Amino acid sequence: MNRILIGAQWGDEGKGKIIDLLAQKSDVIVRFQGGNNAGHTVKFDEETFILHLIPSGILHPGKVCVIGNGVVLDPKAFFEEVDMLASKGVSVKGRLFISEQAHLLFPYHRLMDGLKEESAKQKGKIGTTKRGIGPCYADKVARTGIRVCDLKDLRFFKERLGAVIAEKNEVLKKIYGHPGLSVKKIFEEFKTYRRRLLSFSKDTSLFLHEAARKKKDILFEGAQGTMLDVDHGTYPYVTSSNASVGGAISGSGLSPTLIDKVIGVVKAYTTRVGEGPLPTQFSPKLMKYIQTKGEEFGATTGRPRRCGWFDAVVTRHSVRINGINEIAMMKLDVLSGLQEIKIATSYRVGGKTMRTYPHATSEFERARPVYETMKGWQEDLSQIRRWKDFPPNTKKYIRRLETLLEAPVKIVSVGSKRAQTLFL
Ligand code: IMP
Repeated sequence: MNRILIGAQWGDEGKGKIIDLLAQKSDVIVRFQGGNNAGHTVKFDEETFILHLIPSGILHPGKVCVIGNGVVLDPKAFFEEVDMLASKGVSVKGRLFISEQAHLLFPYHRLMDGLKEESAKQKGKIGTTKRGIGPCYADKVARTGIRVCDLKDLRFFKERLGAVIAEKNEVLKKIYGHPGLSVKKIFEEFKTYRRRLLSFSKDTSLFLHEAARKKKDILFEGAQGTMLDVDHGTYPYVTSSNASVGGAISGSGLSPTLIDKVIGVVKAYTTRVGEGPLPTQFSPKLMKYIQTKGEEFGATTGRPRRCGWFDAVVTRHSVRINGINEIAMMKLDVLSGLQEIKIATSYRVGGKTMRTYPHATSEFERARPVYETMKGWQEDLSQIRRWKDFPPNTKKYIRRLETLLEAPVKIVSVGSKRAQTLFL
């Protein structure tokens, strides 16, 4: 069975835990978009791992992991992660492959991401992770990117790098008053990565195709979330890749006809890091309460996540865009103890009611959620393992969301441990 796992909100839904569970039933686990802006937290054998680039499936011995062509790869971050895993006894030898078509992320991408964000007026800020993701994808699309396979021929690599940096330095000097970067220094740095990086590289599209032919089970590990998708998210407050289902296809080179299922991961409420509207944002008091109880701090940057009620408007959009067959609902335990729980079912925008989110940024900024209010529950859910043991109001909340989203909830998580998971 080939499954795609997608974040259905603004990222941080808790995909790491579900990937970890599904990885046990998979042979190959694939990252297909984004880069080390992601942060997948997995609790494994009493140890907590935060993975940014390498698929979380790597923690399971014998599983093969692939970093697809759609990922932007910062070699420095990649090797740090490989070494971190080795130091904790996880060997990646012979079971981690990078697409030779993946684009390399260079120090100038990181630098420009930071400079652009710092110089932007508040309105123009995206609130990026400053990992250089946007500038690297911009180069890819502008056809000035450099791929892993370009390292094969050092002369070609040096020439291309020189031409790209010459242009970057003009921008750095003229726009940001920065002295510019040394081609030599960056070339020397990448020369040290070359052999080791190429030893991981492969035609991963072909590898995946062959794995599918041999009836191996492939799991696609989405990073970020659909509302951060560059096409289908709340542009411009998005990441620079396709975090929705299409990204899994273009970012891996495996045909959509080989996909069996799409699983959407949602949090039982909504969170968002970075800039951009969050229509269902809590009042400051409730926000602080949920932030603390749900440990809502970014795995990559440590930034506090804004929190709000479940937004069925954007999540319904995600179900449609991705063709989600099943929903995994995370962190339901965090909602215990509230008198009432709200769900946004539509928006009011300029006197109109909308059941889909408005694409124009100024309209989305003005969107006011229309809420349905349900009774909360006081019971602690963290020890519950069977559907029938859920308090009646918890069951009603899940059932109502299924109706609103038009997709069944098949997995419910009530804590960070593996055992705190219900398969419905
Ligand atoms: P970038 O991906 O670093 O360019 O950041 C663009 C937007 O995506 C910002 O709002 C980030 O906070 C957000 N973002 C990027 N990666 C993640 C993630 O893994 N989880 C949640 N938000 C993310």
